[in-house]
Amino acid sequence: MLDKVKELIGEVSVFNATTINEIEAFRIKFLGKKGVLNNLFVEFKNVAPAERKDFGQALNTLKNSAQNKVAQLKETLENATEQKGFYGDLTRPSEPIELGSRHPISLVRNQIIDVFSRIGFTVSEGPEIEDDWHNFTALNLPEYHPARDMQDTFFIEKNPDLLLRTHTSSVQVRYMESHKPPIRTISPGRVFRNEDISARAHCIFHQVEGLYIDTDVSFADLKQTLLYFTKEMFGKSKIRLRPSYFPFTEPSAEVDIYWGLETETDYKITKGTGWLEIMGCGMVDPNVLKNANIDPEVYSGYAFGMGIERIAMLLYQIPDIRMFYENDVRFLEQFKSVL
Ligand code: DAH
Repeated sequence: MLDKVKELIGEVSVFNATTINEIEAFRIKFLGKKGVLNNLFVEFKNVAPAERKDFGQALNTLKNSAQNKVAQLKETLENATEQKGFYGDLTRPSEPIELGSRHPISLVRNQIIDVFSRIGFTVSEGPEIEDDWHNFTALNLPEYHPARDMQDTFFIEKNPDLLLRTHTSSVQVRYMESHKPPIRTISPGRVFRNEDISARAHCIFHQVEGLYIDTDVSFADLKQTLLYFTKEMFGKSKIRLRPSYFPFTEPSAEVDIYWGLETETDYKITKGTGWLEIMGCGMVDPNVLKNANIDPEVYSGYAFGMGIERIAMLLYQIPDIRMFYENDVRFLEQFKSVL
C-alpha cells in the first residue's frame, strides 16, 4: 500500500500539462469525489495500526503535492495566455491618443500678433541673453540710472555685462540697428526679472513690444493704433493715456482701458474704478534713435510694451500667474476650445 502511494507521489511530481482540459482531468483523477485520494482515504481504515502513521503522512504528502501541482499548472497557463493575448491580437484598437491644447500664453501671443499683422506690423525676435547695451544703455538707461533698480535681473557675466533681458524693449534697438525706416514691428518674447514670486509676479514672464518709426509719426498715430488694438483684443472702445515715465520714450504714458463696472468681477479687477492698466507706451526718445543710427531730425516713432500674462489673466480670469508655469493638465486642458 505504502509503495503504491509513493509511486503516485512520483507520478504527481513529474506530471505536466499545457491545456486547461489536461489539468482538469488530472485534478478529477486525484482530487475529485471518486478520485484516487478519496479512495485511498477509504482504504486507510483497513491499514494495520502499526502502518497507519507512515501511510497517513504519505497520503497527506500526496494530497498537498496534487493540490500544488494543479495551482502551479493553472498559473503557468494563465501567464502564457496573457502574454499571447498581449502580442497576439494586432487588430485590437490602440490606446486613445490624448490631444493637447495650446498654452494660454501662446494663445494670447498669437491673438496679439494677429491683430497687429492686420495693420502691417511684422514679427521680430531678439535673444533672451542680452548685453548691457541693448537691454539698458542704448535705451537711455545708462549705468547708475535709478530706473535700473526696477529691473534687476540675472547676470551671466560681469564686465562686460551679459544678462537675461528684463524686457522686450531690447529688440527695438536690435531691430533698428539692422533695418531702415519705415519700421513697423512687434516683438513677442520671454523676459526675466529678479522678483519675488507671488500670485501677481514671477521671475519669468512674457511681453510684446511694438515699434513704429517713420517720417511725421505723431502721438495721435500712437493713440489710434492702441485704440484699434484694444477694440480688437478686448472689444472695449474707450482708452485713456496717463502721463508716465520710461527712459526710452518722451513723452511716456500708461494705457488704461475702460473695462466697465457691470459685474462684481469688474469691481474686483479694476479696484472699483472701472479702469485697467494694460501697457506702457510713448514716443521713442531721440537719444534711442541716435543710439541705433537713425536720424531723429528726419524720423520719429512710437513704442509700446505689454505683458502677455497680464492680458491672459484678464481675458480668462486667471487668478494666479504661477498657474501658467506649473504645467498642470487640469489647468491647461481648459483652453482646448480656444483657437
Ligand atoms: N519695457 C517696459 C517695461 O518692461 C514696457 C514699455 C514701456 C515698453 C513703454 C515700451 C514703452 O516700448 O514705450 O516695463
